[in-house]
This record gives sequence, structure tokens and C-alpha cells, in this order.
Amino acid sequence: MASGQLSRAEALASPGCRHACHVMLFSDTKIQLFGRIPIRHIILMQMRFDGLLGFPGGFVNPLKETLETGLSRELSEELGVALQISVEDHVDSCHAPASSPSSSSSSRFITHFYVKKIEEEQIREVERAAATTATDHGHEVLGMVRVPLYTTKGGGGLSSFLSHSFIGNARSQLVNTLLRFNLVAPEELHKALTHSMKIHTHTGEDLRAVTTLIKPKTKLF
Ligand code: APR
Ligand code: MG
Repeated sequence: MASGQLSRAEALASPGCRHACHVMLFSDTKIQLFGRIPIRHIILMQMRFDGLLGFPGGFVNPLKETLETGLSRELSEELGVALQISVEDHVDSCHAPASSPSSSSSSRFITHFYVKKIEEEQIREVERAAATTATDHGHEVLGMVRVPLYTTKGGGGLSSFLSHSFIGNARSQLVNTLLRFNLVAPEELHKALTHSMKIHTHTGEDLRAVTTLIKPKTKLF
């Protein structure tokens, strides 16, 4: 087990910890972008209220509910649909990264991650409900997004997606799941990550350039 990783049972036996559960929902698809680039899989993430990308889910209180019941409750609020998540969908639990804004001590906050494969039609249903009936739509959740798993001629796609900002360890949860479930070939993923670091550098330069546009005017007198 990698450092910081816990089994579900160890995590639940940790005294005085807060728990959060999130899930990656995905399906297979035959859709082709521009009629020629296979999309292969649809993976759902969300744009959160804090401007970061993350997975649907949230805080769960294991003293009052099971992790999976709590996660299903969070999904009803964020996605507007009742989706049963079971213990078999659990993939890992770990101490939240030290930078997690909700915790002063990383060891007191545990995140649990689940992966569930559903039908393409269910993905569409989730997307529809998330934008209409979900109570969190427009405030805690700004919108659902699909993860592009392909690379376009210009090098866009997965690499650009990975260069965005993610909550906690959501980016590594995504990358690990792409590998573990064989959704993207390791060489392709490595290439996308290397390219996304270049994009990140370019974004830094771009931000610096934009900042100069709005430099506060200095008073001459
Ligand atoms: N890895 C690590 N930590 C994560 C991840 C992740 N992939 N995703 C979310 N978190 C952290 C968040 O920073 C948050 O502190 O887990 C905590 C709970 O997740 P949320 O989905 O934000 O919780 P939710 O119950 O949906 O939101 C309720 O929590 O962040 C507060 O005030 C905020 O109103 C919000 C409330
Ligand atoms: Mg949430």
C-alpha cells in the first residue's frame, strides 16, 4: 500500500477523523469527436464552487451512516439522481493532502475514493439531472464536465485538461484510475502529463502578461 494509503477498515478505525467520499462515474462510448477521434470513455467530473475541478461527493459522518450511504446522499444533492454506491466500488482511502483547506492537520481528514461504471444513457441522465433538479446546481456545483481522453492534432485534449487546477488529490485520483482501469495507455498518459507541464508553464507566462494589463495606475503627484 502506498504511503498515506489506508484500507477502508483502517480508515474507519482512525479515531477523531473527518471523512469525505467522492466517486468517479464513467461509461464506455462509441462517440467520435469530429466523426473521427474515438472518445472511448465518458468520465464525469465537476466544476466546484471554489473554481477547482473535483469528483462528486462530500463529507460523510460514519457515526450516523455508512460511507456508501453518505456518498449516495451527497450524490442526490449534487447530481439530482439516486445512485447506489457499494463497498465493491471502493478503490482507496487516504489521509487528505496537507494543503486541504478544510483541515489544519492532514492526518485528521480522510478521503475515500470510489469508481463506478454505468451505462452511457445513465451518464446522460446524470448530466441532465445535475443541471436541472440537483439542489446544489449553480452554487456548490457549477457544472458537470466530461474528461477528454484523446489528443487532438494540436496536442490538446487530455494534456490541457490535466493542466487545470484540481481539489486535493483529485488529479492523482483521476490519473491512477485511468491507469488502473486501463482507460488510457500508460505511454499516452505519460505524454499527456509531460505536455500538460509545458502548458502549465505557458499559463504562468500568460497570467503574468494579463496581470500587467491591470497594473494599478501609480499616481504621479
Ligand atoms: N481529494 C482530497 N480532498 C478532496 C477531494 C479530493 N479529490 N475532493 C474534495 N476534497 C475535500 C474538499 O476540500 C473538502 O474540504 O473534501 C472535503 C469535502 O468535499 P466536498 O465535496 O467539498 O464536500 P461537500 O460536503 O460536497 O461540501 C460541503 O464543504 O468545502 C466545504 O464549505 C464547503 O459548503 C462546502 C462544504
Ligand atoms: Mg462535494
